[in-house]
Amino acid sequence: MSTAPRACVIGWPVEHSRSPAIHGYWLRHYGIDGAYEKEAVRPEELETFLSRLAARGYVGANVTLPHKEAALRFARSADAAAQAIGAANTLWLDNDGVLHAGNTDAYGFMTNLDTEAPRWREGCDVAMVLGAGGAARAILHGLIEAGVSRILLSNRTAAKAEDLARHFGPSVEAIGWEEKDSALSACGLLVNTTSLGMAGQPPLDIAVAALPASAVVADIVYVPLETPLLATARMRGLTTVDGLGMLLHQAVPGFERWFGVRPEVTADLRAHVVATLGVG
Ligand code: ATR
Repeated sequence: MSTAPRACVIGWPVEHSRSPAIHGYWLRHYGIDGAYEKEAVRPEELETFLSRLAARGYVGANVTLPHKEAALRFARSADAAAQAIGAANTLWLDNDGVLHAGNTDAYGFMTNLDTEAPRWREGCDVAMVLGAGGAARAILHGLIEAGVSRILLSNRTAAKAEDLARHFGPSVEAIGWEEKDSALSACGLLVNTTSLGMAGQPPLDIAVAALPASAVVADIVYVPLETPLLATARMRGLTTVDGLGMLLHQAVPGFERWFGVRPEVTADLRAHVVATLGVG
């Protein structure tokens, strides 16, 4: 049997995952004798699948929907980000075959923000995050770790924003979905984590004109690459950050752990993944 390291992405469904395109590119680019596969695993089969990860020849895995919370429970240990976010997206086996969990979504978002908008922190006393799903949890964790002391959180279903505000503590304040426009003038950073603006969904309706001229606008949606929100912000002259960069950067720590090389997020990788998305 080949001893080349193998990793996979576990999801249900898993067909849509872009992770094989990213890791496959890096394996070829760095000339590594390894493999990255897709594994469609039903929720009720996850625990058994993870207990047999080593037997299947895997050194680790990414986990995507709907397994991110359950994967955290089945791992022996979890890094600080996975614990704070309450979900894992990266798993690895140690030399004794023990399963460990991490979450690189906050790292991916923050690294992309630092790369694409290096001055975002200047004038960002207040940030606004829209949405209260799994991505919002990761981004709130990342922003708090980066030292943003006031984050306004707005979600269509107010109770979910209030739950997250309680979970993350005093730096996160839930505000009503109808209140977001009037709070924008104080915000140096606006992050959309809702599905609004995604292909096939209505656009996000928000008063971009109310943001300060120095504000940065980030969207985690990456189909299309330029959402209506980002297009409006760009036309206003604001710095914009798209969702694809987060996806590329969150893959870096897993690849390094499994294959022993810290890979780079380059324009060529981005073009390769964009080609698989069928978007421009
Ligand atoms: P993820 O885990 O990727 O963040 P999710 O948990 O499905 O995804 O969250 C989707 C987010 O988009 C939620 O905040 C959702 O708001 P609700 O909590 O009210 O459902 C938000 N969302 C989806 N469709 C929306 C719409 N038409 N208007 C406003 N918010 C919407």
